Amino acid sequence: MRGRTAGPRVSITGLGTYAPEKIVTNDDLSELAETNDEWIRSRTGIRERRVAAPEQAASDLSIIAARKALDNAGADASEIDLVIVATVTPDMLFPATAALVASELGMTTAAAYDLSAGCTGFVYALSQGYGSIAAGIANKVLVIGVDVLSRIVDWTDRSTMVLFGDGAGAVVLEKVETGGILGFEVGADGSGGENLWLPCSGSRLSDETERTLRMNGREVFKFATRIMSSSAEAILETCGKTVADIDVYVPHQANVRIIDHAAEKLGIPEEKVIVNVDRYGNTSSGSIPLALGEAVADGRLRPGALVLMTGMGAGLTWGSALIEWTIGMNGATQ
Ligand code: UT7
Repeated sequence: MRGRTAGPRVSITGLGTYAPEKIVTNDDLSELAETNDEWIRSRTGIRERRVAAPEQAASDLSIIAARKALDNAGADASEIDLVIVATVTPDMLFPATAALVASELGMTTAAAYDLSAGCTGFVYALSQGYGSIAAGIANKVLVIGVDVLSRIVDWTDRSTMVLFGDGAGAVVLEKVETGGILGFEVGADGSGGENLWLPCSGSRLSDETERTLRMNGREVFKFATRIMSSSAEAILETCGKTVADIDVYVPHQANVRIIDHAAEKLGIPEEKVIVNVDRYGNTSSGSIPLALGEAVADGRLRPGALVLMTGMGAGLTWGSALIEWTIGMNGATQ
């Protein structure tokens, strides 16, 4: 699915993020499995990650981020017509985490559903939210990317446990006068699904007994290095933009080597690339909105900036969005 947006301009008018308080360092992990800080930093760029408290589920992280996003947009919860929660770690398979979030925020008429597209979930959800507004069936949409991967990680498997962390980001989407979302390029290749999966998590019977994340890291790495640049090139071409037009590049935060490879291949200079994987690890659907929050906080993401975001993950899925950043133009506070 690929296209340049037409019709009404739609943008992010509010942004909020949340990461749990608890920090787990690489040294902490070396007490759980045969690994060490040097290996983790040199192979992934990760120094530490956040881990949810036992009583925190995806909806709890989402609600905190969502309240901040609504506040940032100057929007009341009652104005939201649709809540989409992108996650692979919902509170439970049903009811949808989005419905729990909507209820807790006091929304009584909003539609609410969860979306499963791995680490690309946030970009997928943005495209869905955009589509609902452009089609005229919603005025304001709350899009949340959240994951609590610490719940499904095998804490004895050094090949995966060092990579992931917990976090959430939420945005409010609505019509704007200028700027906004320019286009999307999103896709999936289910033939690669066997490289990143959660056994015992659905209707497929399995000989496996453990419901913990499994990954063929090398295959996902190869896919990631190819798709991060090809998807970015596709969205730029679709929207009639070039790499030189990009002000801020927000890649999925999986591994600093993947980010560096993509930035180098695309020719995006370091100062335009947002990196926070060192402090949060891979937070899956939470990754891109958390990085957006960081870019706003450090002053790189200002109204008018052209932002390229690209995600990739389980599915295997990928997705890019191009957006002319808007927050601040509607009088919303940052
Ligand atoms: O959002 C999408 C989700 N996933 C990803 O994006 C992950 C993509 N893949 C990757 O980022 C990388 O493949 C990893 C970081 C997972 C692994 O890095 P790598 O450079 O591909 O390492 P490798 O799997 O080829 O393993 C190299 C060695 C192996 O030992 P031998 O066979 O060479 O003796 C592993 O057993 O490193 C060993 N190893 C570790 N050693 C210390 C694997 N994990 C660890 C560890 N600590 N945590």
